[in-house]
Amino acid sequence: MPPSSITISPQQQAELIAAAQQAAHHAYAPYSGFRVGAALLLEGGEIVTAANVENASYGLSICAERSAIVSAMAQHGPKLRIHAVAVTNLNHAPSSPCGACRQVLAEFMPPDGIVLFPFDRTPETRIQSLTLAELFPFGFDLTHAQ
Ligand code: THU
Repeated sequence: MPPSSITISPQQQAELIAAAQQAAHHAYAPYSGFRVGAALLLEGGEIVTAANVENASYGLSICAERSAIVSAMAQHGPKLRIHAVAVTNLNHAPSSPCGACRQVLAEFMPPDGIVLFPFDRTPETRIQSLTLAELFPFGFDLTHAQ
């Protein structure tokens, strides 16, 4: 795979992770107790955050990543382009974006977009950094369906 053309500095990465962690405090997660925060870095440098919002019907719960995309769309409109996303939680759990969120991220993020998430339970909580193509190589794409 060619090297990623989207790059973020260590400072931007730290800022994005801190923003996701802050957002997780706004989670509504009374059923799972799993409080997730997502922070999107948009093409223009703006950061948009959100948390997961659960529902008594369980299946209607929305993940932090998709909440953030909906919020970013409301703020910035349909030309939304996401360069990077950080997803963290308050449970010190290794956790990558779920399959549904990967598909929705792929709608607005190029294959070389960067996905950051915690991948172990060490006290310092190491962060995995992958391109979207590495995390989600065969997403559904209607481009060639006709
Ligand atoms: N959750 C997220 O917010 N993002 C993910 O990528 C995976 C799961 C939320 C959904 C639910 O509120 C809780 O975590 C437990 O599944």
